[in-house]
Amino acid sequence: MKFPVLTVTWGCRAFRRFQQRRVLLAEQRLWRSALICRSSSQLCRDHRSFYITTPIFYVNASPHLGHLYSAVIADCLHRWKLLQGFDSRFATGTDEHGLKIQQAAEAAGKDPLTFSTEVSERFKNLFSSCNISFTDYIRTTEQRHRRAVEHFWSVLWNKGLIYKGSYEGWYSTQDESFLTPSQVGDALDPSGKAVKVSLESGHKVEWMKEENYMFRLSAFRSRLHDWLVENPGAVQPERFQLAVLQWLQEELPDLSVSRQRSRLQWGVPVPGDPEQTVYVWLDALVNYLTVAGYPEGHGQWWRVAHHVIGKDILKFHAVYWPAFLLGAGLPLPRAIHVHSHWTVGGRKMSKSLGNVVDPFEHSRMFTNDGIRYFLLRQGVPDSDCDYTPDKVRKLLNAELADSLGGLLNRCTAPALNPAQVYPAFCCQAFSGDGRGRAAAEDHHMVAAVRSLPTVVEKHYESMHVYKALEAISACVRQTNGFVQRHAPWKLDRRDAKERRWSDTVIHVSLECLRIYGTLLQPVVPEMSDRLLTRLGVRAHERSWKDLDFLQRYDGTDCPFEGRPLGSDSGLLFSRLESQNADKRNPKKSKKPAHLK
Ligand code: MSP
Repeated sequence: MKFPVLTVTWGCRAFRRFQQRRVLLAEQRLWRSALICRSSSQLCRDHRSFYITTPIFYVNASPHLGHLYSAVIADCLHRWKLLQGFDSRFATGTDEHGLKIQQAAEAAGKDPLTFSTEVSERFKNLFSSCNISFTDYIRTTEQRHRRAVEHFWSVLWNKGLIYKGSYEGWYSTQDESFLTPSQVGDALDPSGKAVKVSLESGHKVEWMKEENYMFRLSAFRSRLHDWLVENPGAVQPERFQLAVLQWLQEELPDLSVSRQRSRLQWGVPVPGDPEQTVYVWLDALVNYLTVAGYPEGHGQWWRVAHHVIGKDILKFHAVYWPAFLLGAGLPLPRAIHVHSHWTVGGRKMSKSLGNVVDPFEHSRMFTNDGIRYFLLRQGVPDSDCDYTPDKVRKLLNAELADSLGGLLNRCTAPALNPAQVYPAFCCQAFSGDGRGRAAAEDHHMVAAVRSLPTVVEKHYESMHVYKALEAISACVRQTNGFVQRHAPWKLDRRDAKERRWSDTVIHVSLECLRIYGTLLQPVVPEMSDRLLTRLGVRAHERSWKDLDFLQRYDGTDCPFEGRPLGSDSGLLFSRLESQNADKRNPKKSKKPAHLK
C-alpha cells in the first residue's frame, strides 16, 4: 500500500482521523471483494457464470408493455452481472407452437411459420431498439430446439415417466392450460352467451376428451415441496414461493403432455408417435435448456440458470418445469424471479378494452432509457402497478431531468468549472476534524454514497430494482443539497482559497455522479454512458471494482483528478412536456443565470 506524503500542518487528531479512515477504507475494500464472492455464493465453483432468461413470448399478437417489462428486468439483471465481472448469458425469444398460434395464423390467412416469423421479428426489433442485450434469441420453430425437445421427451419416456392415457377435462386455448373443475367458473361472453372460464385468467375454457400422453406429475409432489422448503430463495419474492407451497398441499394430478395431431398440427410430433403433438408448454419450457446447449455441453450454463417470469405463469415454471427437470435428472434453476403485472386505468391490458400500451410508441415518447427507468423504478415485484403516461412524465422529469441531469449540469457548467476538468480535492478544506469547511451533513452524504454500492447490490440481487433506484435517487438528492448548501457559484474563484474550496465541492459532486452513473448502467445504459463519458470516465473504469469513492478523502490518489471532462455538454435527459401543455405558452427548461 502506498501512503501519501503527509503535510506538516496536520495535527495529531487530524492524523488519527486520517488513519482511521484508511483502515475503514481498507475494510470496505475487503468487504466488497468478500461480497463479490458471497453475492454469487457459487462464484468460485462456477467460474462466475450466470444465465438469465425471459419467458419466450407468444407470437399470436404484437408485443405490449408487459412483455417489454419481463425483458427489461432480465436485461437489468444480465447487465448487473456483467458489471460485477460475471460471464453472463441472456436468452429471450418466441413461443411459436400450439393451438393458439395455429388459430391466430389461420385467422390471419397465413401459414403458421410465415405468421410466426413476422411477429417474432417484431419482438426482436422491439428488444433491439430498447437495448435489451440478449445473447441468444430462441424460436421454438428452430431445428436446434426441436432436437432438444425430442431428446428431453425420450429421456422422460425411457425413465417410465410418460405413459399413454386419456385426458378428460377443461382446457383454455388462450392460456394453453389444463384446468381442474375448481379452477373453472361461469361467465357471459360478449354476445351474452353463458360460457365457462378460467377463474384465474378469465379466459374461455372448453371441455376436451382425448387419448394422449400423460406425465407422472403426481410422483413429484413431495420432492417439489422439499426443494422449496430447503431453498427459501428458489422462488422470489417470498409470497410466490408460499403460493406454490400452498398449491402443493393438494394432490397433483398427472399432466397431459400431448395433443392429438388431428387437433393440433402446429408443434413437435411426439417421438415415435406421429399421431400426437408435444404439449406446447413442455415444448416451450425446454427452450431454456436448448439455449444452454442441451442435449450436449449444457452443464456450465444450466447450473447457473435464473428465470424471470410474470406471475401468471408461475405454476408452469415452479411446478411443471421443476418436475420435468427432476424427472430428467437435471439440476433445478437457481432462482425463479417473479414479477407482477402492469394494469392501465386499474384494469388488465386487453385488446377488447382497447387499453393495450404499445411499447414502440411509448419508448419513442419517453426514450428507451426513460421507459426502462420508469418500469424498473415503479414496478414492484410483489404487486400490480398502474401505468399512466402522466406518471411516467412526472417521474422522469423529477428524477432524471431535474435531479440527476441538473446535478451534472451544475457541476460541469463552464462558469463553475472553467478548465473543464475533474478538479482537485483539498484535504484540509474537507477534513473531518471540524477545521475544514465541510459540514456534518457533508460527511453524512459521503458515508451514504460510500455505502450505496452495497445497498444497491442487495436490491439488484433480489430483483428489487425499485429499491436500488430509490436509494440512488435519495443520494442524488443529498448531493444536490450539498451543492446547494455550498453554492460554489457564490465563491470568488479569483481568491485561491475560495477556488480550492469550490473545486473541492465540484470534485466531491463529480465523484458522487461517477458512482451513480456506474450503478445506473444496468437500468439506463445509454444515459449512464453519456454521464460517464462527460465525466471523462473511460470504458474500462466503469465496473463494480471501480466503485472506490472519493479516494482523496481517504488520503489516496484519485485517478480522475485533473482529467479533462468529455466534450459533450448536452442535456443528460430533456424535460418532457405534458401532452396537454399550453402550446401557446411552452415552458422553457429552466437554467439558473449562474449556469448560462
Ligand atoms: N409463452 C408463454 C411463456 C413460455 S415460457 C417457457 C407466455 N407468453 S406471453 O407472451 O403470454 O407472456 C410473456 C410474459 O409477459 C410473461 O412473463 C407475462 O407475465 C408477461 N406479461 C403479460 N402481460 C403482462 C402485463 N400486463 N404486465 C406485466 N407483464 C405481463 O406466457
